[in-house]
Amino acid sequence: MFRNPVQILSSYNEIFGDTFRLYLGGLKEAIVTIDPSVIQHVLKTNSENYQKSEIQVKRMGHFLGKGLLTTHGEAWRTQRRLIQKGFDRTQLDALSSIMQDSLAESLRDFDRQAHSGPVDIYPQLMKITFAMVARSLFGARLKDEDIDRVSHTICTVQEFIVRQTLQPYLNPWFAVSGELRRHEDMRTRADAVLLQYIRKRRIEPPGHDLLQTLMDARYSDGEGMSDELILSESMQLLVAGHETSSNALSWLLYLLSSRSDCLERVRQEFDSVLGEAPLSYADVPKFEFATQVIQEGLRLYPPFWMIDRMAVADDRVGDLAIPRGSTVIVYVYGAHHAPRYWQNPENFDPERFTKANEKLRTPFTFLPFGGGPRGCIGGNYAMLQILMILCDLLRKYDFQLAPGQMIEARPMVILRPKHGIRMTFTNTIAPAPCIA
Ligand code: HEM
Repeated sequence: MFRNPVQILSSYNEIFGDTFRLYLGGLKEAIVTIDPSVIQHVLKTNSENYQKSEIQVKRMGHFLGKGLLTTHGEAWRTQRRLIQKGFDRTQLDALSSIMQDSLAESLRDFDRQAHSGPVDIYPQLMKITFAMVARSLFGARLKDEDIDRVSHTICTVQEFIVRQTLQPYLNPWFAVSGELRRHEDMRTRADAVLLQYIRKRRIEPPGHDLLQTLMDARYSDGEGMSDELILSESMQLLVAGHETSSNALSWLLYLLSSRSDCLERVRQEFDSVLGEAPLSYADVPKFEFATQVIQEGLRLYPPFWMIDRMAVADDRVGDLAIPRGSTVIVYVYGAHHAPRYWQNPENFDPERFTKANEKLRTPFTFLPFGGGPRGCIGGNYAMLQILMILCDLLRKYDFQLAPGQMIEARPMVILRPKHGIRMTFTNTIAPAPCIA
């Protein structure tokens, strides 16, 4: 189960149907479901009864403090309302140029790597997307070394949280051996870096970034957020946004590398909509086919392959009794690959997402961004980011999968490529000949 949960859960779906019960670690009851009506009930209709799981609230909360990812009820609702403004249309328009500049800078580094041989696109794309999210939050002047430090801290702390969760019997050892303290100190040092930017902004002219949205937000009594709350909300946005888009992009490039027909169509769409112009949020609705391709990539490889919740009180959906305290696992990967909801589910077929076909789809069978009130706050940002990066990569490069590698998905918190994905990149426009 720990080695390959996707394979096991999917085989249980075949044997037991859309919903089945499982005893996690032989002890704790979990209900695993791909049934759209149960998913809708848990994530949306009766979402008040389903809290985020222990890993999110307790373990992540220990390192990340209180924020969107780690709170419930009224505290969460108030913060969500305020932070949502940072992802509305006007704000995403304003962020487009910061994102584009960050991308141009990151691609200079990527270009050097690409010229020196095949690159593992996963860490490269993670670097690119993290810098974009970090600069969207803290502004274009965020220094490279600060981005690297915070990114390193988030990756290390996240890995530690996964270890704490998968091997809970080691927690006393983590405490006495100093492992826990080492990770807490790391987090404190990253906090100090980001706090500098927050305090500086209090006395500087306003920016057009998410930090400004957080600073300008006001509660009903007219008060704003404290520096510490802004820090923990920013850190949580970085955590939620740092590995998701890069993951989606990695799988997308992998899928496109064997579908030159789709690749060319996407390239032509970028050309005809934009010419040489940079992409901004206002352009997003114009990319019909590219959006279909991204959605199909997210269907086949959903970064969050499952979403877990804990029932606060006894509940019932149709015939299914959900006792208080049980974990409900919305098995996103299973829903995306179920033959009863998708024809030839293993095929890469962007036509599934044409407007006409979308109308035929059963609701709550496609959930890359979750669903209901706790669905992804950064979904539109992520689509913009993925389109921007894809557009610039396709303008600059042709790419192929490097031979002799095994591509496999590893479902940890995120559905990562287990051994990376190595690709070779060649410039689409050959450099001008050098005339002596
Ligand atoms: C392809 C990229 C992305 C995917 C697939 C994705 C997916 C998701 C999913 C499935 C959830 C719901 C989790 C749950 O219900 O337990 C979620 C929540 C969230 N996402 Fe994303 N996400 C992406 C990008 C981003 C980005 C770029 C940001 C921020 C810059 C972001 C910020 C958040 C936050 C803050 C939440 C928690 C919302 C809440 O609880 O109110 N995500 N995301």
